[in-house]
Amino acid sequence: MKTEILVIGGTGKTGRRVVEQLQNKGIEPRVGSRNASPSFDWDQKDTWIHALAGIEQMYVTYYPDLAVPGAKKSIESLTYLAKELGVKKMVLLSGKGEAEAEACEKIVMDSGLDYTIVRASWFNQNWSESFFLDPILSGEVALPMSDVLIPFVDANDIAEVAATVLLNDSYNGKIIEVTGPELITFKEIINIISKTSNRNLNFYDITLEQYIEGMKKMQIPNDVVWLIEYLFSHVLTNPKNQQVATDIEDVLGRKATTFLEYAKKTAKTGIWSQVKIK
Ligand SMILES: NC(=O)c1ccc[n+]([C@@H]2O[C@H](COP(=O)([O-])OP(=O)(O)OC[C@H]3O[C@@H](n4cnc5c(N)ncnc54)[C@H](OP(=O)(O)O)[C@@H]3O)[C@@H](O)[C@H]2O)c1
Repeated sequence: MKTEILVIGGTGKTGRRVVEQLQNKGIEPRVGSRNASPSFDWDQKDTWIHALAGIEQMYVTYYPDLAVPGAKKSIESLTYLAKELGVKKMVLLSGKGEAEAEACEKIVMDSGLDYTIVRASWFNQNWSESFFLDPILSGEVALPMSDVLIPFVDANDIAEVAATVLLNDSYNGKIIEVTGPELITFKEIINIISKTSNRNLNFYDITLEQYIEGMKKMQIPNDVVWLIEYLFSHVLTNPKNQQVATDIEDVLGRKATTFLEYAKKTAKTGIWSQVKIK
């Protein structure tokens, strides 16, 4: 089939899986990535026009997060360009309980394009493909807010929902909330990963201040520290984020993946067994 669907962030946690979902349906989408041809770079607007040329539907993930300064302007410019170029529909990946992300959603919703908003809670894959992996590998996990209840969601479920709504116009104009099927704490997660990966993980409950201090000592870049502090202080603690939604089941006709199911599958890949020397 012709490549009329663009997946921006098509090599990332959800985008890569959306590409696979579409390929399984016999559709070869265009991958939006700095390494693709044509390339797409959020920081180089002149790349956008080539990546969007001839596209009818697009799945948009912003990098690193819709909460960062500049994201709203970029989403505004991209949406405007998409409309100019005749794109018909945009599916935007957004974050649950993030005021900045909701401002980006509004731009898309008011654009006149057909749209579906996929509004996600924190991803399971943060533990295997993102910033929570390193502490797991070191065996020492120190996190604040260890008892906050979070409906962690699986990136495979998000991708299946995104691919479904991209291809089905009955979801136009809707906000689909994608969460896992249960509320779970960091403490419980570390227990599950310890058991499924057969590792002896130590968990330490620390304050947000200690967590930030630790990241600075590790010379993690300031903008990343800012984002993680923002996510913990504004997103994690937002009561809107501590609720389970049934939209995954409604769209896919099956239950959302539990953290235990994700952990069993992920442990088998060996990713959590590559122990780092401290
Ligand atoms: N993680 C969570 O728990 C969570 C929860 C709710 C919402 N979200 C939202 O999810 C979105 C991220 O989606 P994701 O996790 O699927 O993606 P991701 O894995 O964070 O993103 C990686 C993708 O971004 C691309 N990328 C990086 N820098 C880029 C640049 N300068 N220009 C163009 N592309 C660039 C990478 O492509 P190349 O390196 O190949 O160029 C890759 O495809 C964010 O907007 C965030 O707000 C995340």
